[in-house]
Amino acid sequence: MKRFSVNALLLCTLTALPLHSNAETVMADKALHEARSLVKTYGSNLKAALKPAIKNGGPVNAINVCNLEARPIADTLSAKSDWKVSRTSLKVRNADNTPDQWELMTLLQFEQRKAAGEDVKTMEHSELITQNGQSVYRYMKPIPTAGLCLKCHGTELGNEVSAKLDELYPYDQAVGFSEGDIRGAFSLKKIK
Ligand code: HEC
Repeated sequence: MKRFSVNALLLCTLTALPLHSNAETVMADKALHEARSLVKTYGSNLKAALKPAIKNGGPVNAINVCNLEARPIADTLSAKSDWKVSRTSLKVRNADNTPDQWELMTLLQFEQRKAAGEDVKTMEHSELITQNGQSVYRYMKPIPTAGLCLKCHGTELGNEVSAKLDELYPYDQAVGFSEGDIRGAFSLKKIK
């Protein structure tokens, strides 16, 4: 009899716990869903801008697309949503994309997870953090380096590409990548 009541008590405790956090879980699920969908849109909008630019005018011409359009595409998505949408990396080309503390830790974790054999394509990280006394929902997803990226982020860049990048980004760190490397990550912060 005693045994039964202990079990019953345990059962109550176990069922009571998830009830408490249920609302939070639902909120986090919704945020995660939104973040994933925004990243998908941002990624495909970037590719849609980059691919024809390379095809029509070569990589030198396409540098202008990345230089002028990458941020406005992110800003448009941010304006239309409750999120701040951006990209960052351990080796940035544009210093405006420099990671903050949380992004830096997450990027380092992605590298560790990749080294441990995890597939970069399905990797992501979301977390509710406290920032300046407020709870902020954050999300990051690594961006793998594809063959297409090497023209501007690889080890052997064309002379014209190098010259143009030097001109626009004298402190460029975003070279020397190989296919499959983590080039950087999409980073989203829920602001509303
Ligand atoms: C035509 C040249 C070009 C190609 C090809 C290119 N990029 Fe970039 N990339 C740039 C430029 C220029 C920037 C800086 C954009 C800015 O000023 O915000 C950049 C910035 C980035 C950033 C933001 C972080 C940073 O370094 O500032 C990421 C992430 C990135 N590129 C990933 C990729 C990936 C992944 C591919 C392949 C799918 C790719 N790029 C292909 C030129 C290129």
